[in-house]
Amino acid sequence: MAPLAPSKILIFGGTGFIGQYITTSLLRAKPPLQSLILFTSPSSAQSKSAQLSKWKSEGLSVIVGDLTSEADVTAAYNTGVDTVISAVGRGGLQLQIELLRLAEASESVKWFLPSEYGTDIEHNTDKSPHEKPHQFKLKVRKYIRENLKKVKATYVVTGPYFDGWLDPIPGAEKAGGFVVDKKVAYVPDDGEGKVGFCIMWDVGKFVVATLQHPEESFGKALKVQSFVVSPNEVLAEYEKQTGSKWTVVKTPLDEIRTLEKKFWDEGNPRATGITLRRIWAEGGTLYEKNDNELLGLKPEDLDTLEDGIKKALAGGYKNDTFCSGMGGGELTFT
Ligand SMILES: NC(=O)c1ccc[n+]([C@@H]2O[C@H](COP(=O)([O-])OP(=O)(O)OC[C@H]3O[C@@H](n4cnc5c(N)ncnc54)[C@H](OP(=O)(O)O)[C@@H]3O)[C@@H](O)[C@H]2O)c1
Repeated sequence: MAPLAPSKILIFGGTGFIGQYITTSLLRAKPPLQSLILFTSPSSAQSKSAQLSKWKSEGLSVIVGDLTSEADVTAAYNTGVDTVISAVGRGGLQLQIELLRLAEASESVKWFLPSEYGTDIEHNTDKSPHEKPHQFKLKVRKYIRENLKKVKATYVVTGPYFDGWLDPIPGAEKAGGFVVDKKVAYVPDDGEGKVGFCIMWDVGKFVVATLQHPEESFGKALKVQSFVVSPNEVLAEYEKQTGSKWTVVKTPLDEIRTLEKKFWDEGNPRATGITLRRIWAEGGTLYEKNDNELLGLKPEDLDTLEDGIKKALAGGYKNDTFCSGMGGGELTFT
């Protein structure tokens, strides 16, 4: 089948943590993408009405519906949607199987980007298949492989969001992170292990670039990165930009693994975050080559470590006033 140029795009989860960046980036794509529709829940339609009004003024159409309703989803697809982007949260990952089934059954949907935007869940064959946080995403990929014929999938694999990774997990600080007001750096192991990161705005850029490169993207897991740096390099940048020495707490990987097991055993939802940080610290985001070039994105199109720390010191994603040329201070983080 010839790759398609998306003409009607439907977004699920586009009001969420990463979805807000994706939706905004899609709306501001150059050259402009054609028709963009957001499918959102009644609760988000109410609680995020200011953001939705702003997006509508930029050309977004909004359908309010229930993601779990066959009738609602089918009606949305039947508006002639050819491309679906899902950014549903972890709690909704398994619901995508039904979204995919209905996409395959529809007349118009041909391309589906499932909610990934994170760790490479098929990074290796020995450990990746067994990691707890990977399980629902692996099921979605399996369903796609075994059931979809007409609809093609693309997975946008971004690695950790640098903006979020900088903040330690409360109660599990030793898994890594930086506390700006106390100038304390928690680094895994010796701090030398490199990690491939995406700045959240760059996640939006990579999704846009994916849609602009259907031929290169169809059927692939695209590995994209803003930059690849070690925790020690992040620390050095913080020390440079704050003009002071920081206290460094180094934690051996085995101690992080013990902490991770404790959180899972206790049923603490923060266990997922510790596991992911351990995977990233073990090299789970490193590749011989990423797919940035394939999508036409050059280093100068993306944020750097210096940009990332500058933004973090100005409040980070919780006070997002920097939007990499997209206009700032407009997103509501709820
Ligand atoms: N790389 C990283 O560092 C990183 C960090 C966080 C997340 N991620 C990944 O990014 C993707 C999106 O995660 P997120 O944290 O951005 O999502 P989120 O904010 O938790 O949720 C996104 C949206 O999904 C929709 N949704 C509908 N039904 C849902 C359900 N049953 N459970 C959860 N969400 C539901 C909601 O949108 P409406 O109300 O508008 O329908 C919600 O706002 C996931 O695949 C996640 O693994 C990666």
